[in-house]
Amino acid sequence: MNDNVSIRLITEEDTPKVVAWRNAPSVVDQFIYRTPLTEEGHLKWFRERIMTGEVVQFIITDTETNTDVGSVYFRDIDRQNKKCEYGIFIGEESCRGKGIGSKAAKLALDYAFSQLGMNRIFLRVFAKNPRAIKSYENAGFKYEGKFREDVIIDGKAYDMVFMAILKDEWKKGTKE
Ligand SMILES: CC(C)(COP(=O)(O)OP(=O)(O)OC[C@H]1O[C@@H](n2cnc3c(N)ncnc32)[C@H](O)[C@@H]1OP(=O)(O)O)[C@@H](O)C(=O)NCCC(=O)NCCS
Repeated sequence: MNDNVSIRLITEEDTPKVVAWRNAPSVVDQFIYRTPLTEEGHLKWFRERIMTGEVVQFIITDTETNTDVGSVYFRDIDRQNKKCEYGIFIGEESCRGKGIGSKAAKLALDYAFSQLGMNRIFLRVFAKNPRAIKSYENAGFKYEGKFREDVIIDGKAYDMVFMAILKDEWKKGTKE
């Protein structure tokens, strides 16, 4: 828990919420994979990725209103190289831009470095998503570069920004 935000591990019962958030047009618009998520699809992800330990996923709660607002996760957890990819979506539009995403990122990073033993956590974000980029910077992620025209959606090419945070940087940040 961090001020007004907490995260908890996802359960199967969260499926309808997660499906609704992930299918919100303002979330879909910021993701590379745009096929609508079904409950069956999410339950498959739950069984094949979360239950196997390849993904660790949380639900983000706004503790001021006691409302679940979105999800944050680590995917493709590579225990040999101690790295994984970070992802987040706040499905409730009215809850964006209030610091919840930055705080949830910090809580999730604490978990990944201290509980999962990760050394490097990276992310990919559309260059056209400055709010997400700023919230990642707030949480300690550093800019690593831009892949120009990395993704093509409906015939239009988009630049992707790559960011990452290392365990040593996180440790240093938690001491400051
Ligand atoms: C991306 C997301 C998780 C960020 O969470 P959030 O709670 O909205 O973000 P925060 O309020 O913690 O931080 C946003 C920061 O961006 C800044 N910001 C907002 N709009 C901005 C803009 N157009 N340009 C630059 N900065 C902007 C805010 O001022 C804030 O920074 P500050 O706290 O230093 O002032 C959330 O907005 C979201 O889920 N969006 C839809 C899906 C998405 O984009 N997912 C990410 C896919 S990679």
